[in-house]
Amino acid sequence: MPRPPEIVVCADADALAQCAAEIFVGVARDAIAERGKFTVALSGGSTPEKLYKLLAAPPFANQVDWQNVFVFWGDERFVPHDDKNSNFGMAQNTLLVHVPLPPANVFAMPTPPLVSDVAEGAGRYVNTLAAFWETGDLATPPVFDLALMGLGDDGHTASLFPGNLSLDTRLNWVVGSQAGVLPPPVPRLTLTLPVFNAARHVLFLAAGARKADVVKDVLENHPTTAVRPAAGIVPANGKLTWLLDMEAAGKLSPETTQNEGNEK
Ligand code: 6PG
Repeated sequence: MPRPPEIVVCADADALAQCAAEIFVGVARDAIAERGKFTVALSGGSTPEKLYKLLAAPPFANQVDWQNVFVFWGDERFVPHDDKNSNFGMAQNTLLVHVPLPPANVFAMPTPPLVSDVAEGAGRYVNTLAAFWETGDLATPPVFDLALMGLGDDGHTASLFPGNLSLDTRLNWVVGSQAGVLPPPVPRLTLTLPVFNAARHVLFLAAGARKADVVKDVLENHPTTAVRPAAGIVPANGKLTWLLDMEAAGKLSPETTQNEGNEK
């Protein structure tokens, strides 16, 4: 039975990144203690950059047992990994090259030139997930310890965009989509709702005044997933945390924030 989201309002984007780093380190520590490894699906865009840079340096970098961390992506732009729009490239530059994470623990989504179309890329990543989780049953999605999620102004999350057929996918773990209108206008690969909703902990990061309207809509107005895909992130058994800065939380009612979370 899904639990109500925890909503935490942080003073600003820096405080949000700090809080996210504390959650990341805590979930990693607990996962490794309980199961010997920590699996995380990273998000892209600009918001998580501050988090990744915090994790890449002391004190947080020293608090993670990187040898037992396994990194995946929630979505990817279908561009070469050295392209400025690559989510892998952003994480590589801000975090991965700065910590003692074995390269074998990094599972990038396949993009050009490795693959030539999103269907091939999606199929390869399904195989990657199936091999890591040692399952071939598409009805039983991989269970990430942590899924980081961003929120677009239109309510998209990962690369699940409003009205996109990938939202309806129930028996696939990774889908590709053609370029939409939102920048960057490139094809995408994305994990699907069943995978995100199987995670043990889903952590949204949203900062800035331009997110205030969509944050309010998603958290207070119960929009359909087709209209606001982020509303479709409802972990079946996992914990859902929304980390917001004051600006992004600026239009939420007191009832929404006063019970669910705390000021940070
Ligand atoms: C991507 C992201 C996307 C992002 C949101 C928010 O590949 O672009 O996965 O879902 O999280 O668009 O982006 P910002 O953090 O840049 O606002």
